[in-house]
Amino acid sequence: MRKLYITRKLPEEVLTKLSASFSIRMWDKEDQPVPRHTLEKEVEDIDGLLCLLTDNIDSHLISKSKKLKIISNMAVGYNNIDMEAANERNIMVTNTPGVLTETTADLTFALLMATARRLVESSNYLRDGNWKTWSLMMLTGQDIFGATLGIIGLGNIGEAVARRAQGFSMKTLYYNRSRKYDVEKELNIIYTDLETLLKESDFVCVMTPYTKETEHLIGKEQLGLMKESAILINTARGGIVDEQALYEALKSKKIWGAGLDVIEKEPIDLNHSLLTLPNVILLPHIGSASVKTRTAMADIAVTNLINGLTGEGTIHLVK
Ligand code: GLV
Repeated sequence: MRKLYITRKLPEEVLTKLSASFSIRMWDKEDQPVPRHTLEKEVEDIDGLLCLLTDNIDSHLISKSKKLKIISNMAVGYNNIDMEAANERNIMVTNTPGVLTETTADLTFALLMATARRLVESSNYLRDGNWKTWSLMMLTGQDIFGATLGIIGLGNIGEAVARRAQGFSMKTLYYNRSRKYDVEKELNIIYTDLETLLKESDFVCVMTPYTKETEHLIGKEQLGLMKESAILINTARGGIVDEQALYEALKSKKIWGAGLDVIEKEPIDLNHSLLTLPNVILLPHIGSASVKTRTAMADIAVTNLINGLTGEGTIHLVK
């Protein structure tokens, strides 16, 4: 029987699809990642690996495997996998696109709204007993309706965010490696260079994949171009934004606020400088976290694994 290793507990109904045809070992602790030495040992004799975006599947780990055929990542992003090393060994790499698009766009928009209208801060203000009276400028935020939204990276999720922005009569700009004329027309959005987008947007949404090219795409210089009233939203990957530069821009009020679902090093260190600022909302990477979507992601990751190993049916190959 072919052997699989799964780096996190999966829903029973999804697991049963595998158990008939494969021998499965699984890291079943919900609240801790699989230790590196365990993973290094486990990959040695397996045919398939089902992993999370937080598992670092680097060349060293890949070199430990003797017969690995497929790495099924339970995420759409796959920056945690060394693609070169996988390619060299002819190992298939798959992801879970599609199912999480709308859920992640929902969260992006929720975070945008929560940051603009200071929802977390306002709730804490009330709970901490600070609400003594109503006052005119108490907890005032930024308007969303009619504002300008700048989307960096117009993939499926970026498009879904642009679609939501229509309901708020937002003027939407986008910057992308390639122009998407059909989407521009359909959603009435405008292509600009990065500099124009940063200068003109009230909300800048980072939605691009994390690659060598996009690492620290948003740094001191880019933040310096943004409006003082502007808000940065990142629901893609932490490494796209230079966090030290962001901290300084927020602290010195060069920009107004930030909403981050992702951080360079996850989980966040509680001494992280961004946690000292009131004008930042930080979330624990929950973009795709609805019950339905997370279940669907597990299902697709398992299907990729089965189909990749049996050679039947389709898989979401990323190489
Ligand atoms: C989540 O961040 C994903 O890449 O699926």
